[in-house]
Amino acid sequence: MIEQLNQFEGESLAKLNALNDSESLKAWKGEVFGKTSLLSTALGELGKLPKEERPLVGKRVNEIKQKLTAAFEEKDYAAKAADLEKELRSEPYDVTLPGRPVTRGRLHLISQTVREICDVWAEMGFQVYRSREVETDEYNFELLNIPKHHPARDMQDTFYTTVPDVILRTHTSPGQIHAMREYYPDPIRVVLPGMVYRYEQITARSDIQFDQIEGLAVGKGIRMSDLKGTLTDFARRIFGKGVRTRFRSDHFPFTEPSAEMDIECFVCGGKGCAVCKRSGWLEILGCGMVHPIVLKNGGYDPKVFSGFAFGMGPGRIAMLKYKIEDIRYFWGNDLRFLSQF
Ligand code: DAH
Repeated sequence: MIEQLNQFEGESLAKLNALNDSESLKAWKGEVFGKTSLLSTALGELGKLPKEERPLVGKRVNEIKQKLTAAFEEKDYAAKAADLEKELRSEPYDVTLPGRPVTRGRLHLISQTVREICDVWAEMGFQVYRSREVETDEYNFELLNIPKHHPARDMQDTFYTTVPDVILRTHTSPGQIHAMREYYPDPIRVVLPGMVYRYEQITARSDIQFDQIEGLAVGKGIRMSDLKGTLTDFARRIFGKGVRTRFRSDHFPFTEPSAEMDIECFVCGGKGCAVCKRSGWLEILGCGMVHPIVLKNGGYDPKVFSGFAFGMGPGRIAMLKYKIEDIRYFWGNDLRFLSQF
């Protein structure tokens, strides 16, 4: 049997060496490794051999298989390379044909706006501070002077989780507490961009998730005039040097006093149009002097320290700037909308 196998090996290799094209290599493979080949029948007949011969034959079959496989692969590789070469030569490429257009991706309009706003704040000495999107009731409400049953909670309908007191933040303001507790007792100048979540009806004007940018300055001797000056400077850097601003008093639980800042409508120049609802002014952000209770919750003694805070929606600013009428475009993933910016 060993004799036969050796002979089979020699003959098969000799045949293989004479072959050069993929077709005949394939035929060779079928013959040598197929069901009727000696390599297969020898194994099938192992039982008929004397006991001491069986392991020797088994081993020899495997050796031959390995050797023939290796030899085949080498030949096959060369044959395939030759085939490819032939194909390329017979169908030459036309280098004068126009190429396929490469489409370029870009940042989402909101990302562009967030970056633009953060860049402006960076120029003014504010550092970007990242804060978590999953919050506790304590950080999102309590520490910001919004106790349970406070009516302000109704304005920010909340996504609760299955874990008690763990919620999705409804605004970026809880980041104020994180920043204060981290920076104490140093002065703070930070902006906090990020996603917020509200359990609301989705309409053209409101969505369940959107971006906000919070700002916080804490130090000694910070006054309302600093807030007004800083925010007016910000508005000029974003909307242009000549833009007029005004502050209207408002109420937020975490600031006292609180205000809203408007800019003069850049569509009609203050004359009154559909975008500014005939008022001549566009509401841009909420702001105020950090409430003493909030300062205290952040670790800063309100008798020594003071500060101002503000919060704005980059989505709203982008909508005003580009006259986008429906907030749902932002998440609609429609390239006809997105590729305009
Ligand atoms: N957190 C407020 C909101 O989501 C926005 C805001 C208003 C933030 C006034 C502030 C602020 O820091 O001073 O509606």
